[in-house]
Amino acid sequence: MCGIIGYCGKKHLTDVLLTGLKRLEYRGYDSAGICLGNSNSLTIYKKEGKIRDLTAIVPREATGSWGMGHTRWATHGGVTDVNAHPHTDCSGKIAICHNGIIENYSRLKEKLGSEGHSFHTETDSEVIAHLIESMYSGDLEKAVKDSVPLLQGTFGLLVMHADHPCEIIGARNGSPLVLGIGENEMFLASDVSAMMSHTKQVVYCEDGEVVKLSALDYQVSDLRNRPIDKEVSRISWELEELEKGKFSHFMIKEIFEQVQSIPRAMNGRVDENQATARLGGLNMTERELLGIKRVVIIAAGTSFYAGQTAAWLLESLARIPAVTELASELRYRNPLVEEGTLYFAVSQSGETLDTLMAVRELQSKGARVLGICNVVGSTIARESDGGVYIHSGPEIAVASTKAFTSQLTALYLFILKMARMRHMAWLQGQTFIEGLLSVPRCLESILARAGELQALAKKYHQAESFLFLGRGINYPVALEGALKLKEIAYIHAEGCSAAEIKHGPIALINQNTPSMFLVPEDHLRSKLISNMKEIKARGGPVIALCMEGDRETAEIADDVFYVPKISEEFSPFVMVVPLQLFAYYCALELERNVDQPRNLAKSVTVE
Ligand code: M6R
Repeated sequence: MCGIIGYCGKKHLTDVLLTGLKRLEYRGYDSAGICLGNSNSLTIYKKEGKIRDLTAIVPREATGSWGMGHTRWATHGGVTDVNAHPHTDCSGKIAICHNGIIENYSRLKEKLGSEGHSFHTETDSEVIAHLIESMYSGDLEKAVKDSVPLLQGTFGLLVMHADHPCEIIGARNGSPLVLGIGENEMFLASDVSAMMSHTKQVVYCEDGEVVKLSALDYQVSDLRNRPIDKEVSRISWELEELEKGKFSHFMIKEIFEQVQSIPRAMNGRVDENQATARLGGLNMTERELLGIKRVVIIAAGTSFYAGQTAAWLLESLARIPAVTELASELRYRNPLVEEGTLYFAVSQSGETLDTLMAVRELQSKGARVLGICNVVGSTIARESDGGVYIHSGPEIAVASTKAFTSQLTALYLFILKMARMRHMAWLQGQTFIEGLLSVPRCLESILARAGELQALAKKYHQAESFLFLGRGINYPVALEGALKLKEIAYIHAEGCSAAEIKHGPIALINQNTPSMFLVPEDHLRSKLISNMKEIKARGGPVIALCMEGDRETAEIADDVFYVPKISEEFSPFVMVVPLQLFAYYCALELERNVDQPRNLAKSVTVE
């Protein structure tokens, strides 16, 4: 949540900051601000609303020689101009941009208040500026280092002082901070997208590190002033991947990209001769893999549903007990870590705080945690003991789509490997690989009929509430379909196992509550058909996603969308894409802000 960018260099400062913030806007978009440093003064512009609202109030001629910016996702204090960052100290000489939450801010505020500091905002972040002010005696870096240990919570922090021209101090604890090295210019930001048009050379900062930045140089050190030698990495993403291109929204672009992103997740990882998968990044020997007795997948949101789908298949194909747990719950549950249990942390951004904290909790108990991440160099990717990058390319829309199917692909490859090491014969392995390779083709044929889903959205977008119903491997896909509709169309939707409706949710059924059934051709199909009839008998409209040629389902349902025939284990791919499209088109009908839905942000770096 929240995006921060700092810049020291010769380019037009406001341009660099505002375009950088625009790229970071997906992280938080309720208000924004910039601080421009000019010889010995700081000028701040901040505004409630989007980056375009901020841009409108910044005079074209306004610039400076160093500066920083912030795009906010409010936690403490309402969405107002005043609460927008940057925040300043009493003198107005120190300014900060903060991503994260300061948990002990009330105590600090009280103490600093009693020492004479006056506060102007309702935010937790403002205390940081005053705390640094109270520590400052001519050395900004030292003041930051003296302040940081007193802050409880999470932060990616940028600090400027009017009397320290062309100097930015950055600090990190729990929230991401990346340093960008350009030619005679330096950047510090919450993620690489903010600086990609200027440089691809980056350094990922770790918790407890402090960066001192000028246009020509940077130094990274710890809180005890010990210099840290950092590795410089190269960003692999291309700038065009951050653009919408011919699409009207990132979400629809990313839905269509799945035809390419799924093969990318498989690239170089399929061993057709041995009918297995090659996953070198796991950092585990075959013998260690053979010793796995149980798998636990931890994640949040859409990544959690990808994990649930994979856990179902892992157990059924590889015969390894597997469960999925919400990272937010696991981290506070004092989990039991046992020998032989392998953990996966699934996270598109690799920065979700709940997932990261769960990883750390598990690792502190001796667990081996592998990451399934998209963002290369993200914190979870770096801190996990190995893993698989899904290589979806940047996912900008807040609603996760292509990451879901790529996470599934990576996890399916792991399942194939585990299954082949246990009970799966070579021929079955071949069939599995053929099935996985056929997925992109199936998705292509669904995407070619996106118009049918648009027509369904036109018909149903005014529904009060929706049920999404699936069974077995498609139960988590039903939950994902409901999540998509809620988050971008703001239509109340509940995902359920179709078997569970009789235990309560069926009471919701009326003419204004349609049910979306996922009906693949598996052993539970006849049960789903009975459930459809139960809904119809109570006057509820039924939409069914079923396999080509399924006349029986078509006769019961009010509307059907046919998906290509594919075996049960791959049905989640062909079921989820129509659900993504349906949610997208409902959101369009309702004129929602599809890519930046209200109250949300892409990367959830707060609890
Ligand atoms: O980056 P992550 O995969 O860890 O994010 C987890 C969730 O915050 C994320 O999937 C969220 O639920 C999406 N907005 C859903 O579309």
